[in-house]
Amino acid sequence: MRHFISVNQLTVEEIYSILETAEAYRNQKVTLNNQLFAANIFFEPSTRTKMSFIVAQKKLGMEVLDFHSESSSVRKGESLYDTAKTFESIGSNLLIIRHQSDSWFEELDSRISIPVINAGAGKEEHPTQCMLDLMTIHQEYGSINGLKVVIVGDIKHSRVARSNALALHRLGAEVYLSAAPGFEDEELDFPYISIDQAVEICDVVMLLRIQHERHLHKAESTDYLELYGLTKERERKMKNHAIILHPAPINRGVEIDTDLVECCRSRIFKQMENGVYVRMAIMMNVLNEWGIIDENNFKEYKALAVNR
Ligand code: NCD
Repeated sequence: MRHFISVNQLTVEEIYSILETAEAYRNQKVTLNNQLFAANIFFEPSTRTKMSFIVAQKKLGMEVLDFHSESSSVRKGESLYDTAKTFESIGSNLLIIRHQSDSWFEELDSRISIPVINAGAGKEEHPTQCMLDLMTIHQEYGSINGLKVVIVGDIKHSRVARSNALALHRLGAEVYLSAAPGFEDEELDFPYISIDQAVEICDVVMLLRIQHERHLHKAESTDYLELYGLTKERERKMKNHAIILHPAPINRGVEIDTDLVECCRSRIFKQMENGVYVRMAIMMNVLNEWGIIDENNFKEYKALAVNR
């Protein structure tokens, strides 16, 4: 049975099917018949991902188990595996996990018999963020194939960059990267272009925060906006229809001029809204695959929603 660890594990058809379900959930109330417990196990700070999972779970009618690592038995030396196993033992039906390790799921994998959804793995993967980004781009353009998308910022330390670059490429987008010296990632095989070039040719400009928490030495950010970020002058050179994305949290005035955060090209708050529906769709998909929710009801909901 599959845990939801990476967008890479999904076929292109599965990606689009989840996006379609998410779109449908925007207009269609979906509530599960049976009592299900979802545990949100976050070892790293989170506002959007955690809260939108909670909203998504509540919209689906789930019981939400909240976990705070700093007041948990992790402080007494308990491992991630033992924490996850505890939630499984007390009756949790689903685990949502964010952890600073790039490969925390290897510790769980076949040893946990309830589904696990990756809500962020170190600098490696952030598949639910990627899905909501895909949803936002798809909503805008009706297709992803052939779009020019640039990911700008601290590529080397960003799980959002990695998840998105690979998924967008699989869906036929032309992916470009743009980074200050030292922020490039040689493992990602996509062309690097300057921010000035990027704004002129790209349909989607996806900005990233400097991931200070993953830096060994504090990065200097003086002049960062002028040299590598999205200034108002650069925004004026973007194509007419081009949009701005950012997974947030935003460091206003560092990677983006504060006035652009809510400008008409910005889809940043739309991304957050989409995050709720995409996470509902991902949870339903995983619970269905694991046979935890009633297959027929699920299909019925889906059919109802899609035909609306
Ligand atoms: C991102 C994350 O945690 O990777 N935020 C998010 O989930 N919306 C991006 C970041 O922290 O910069």
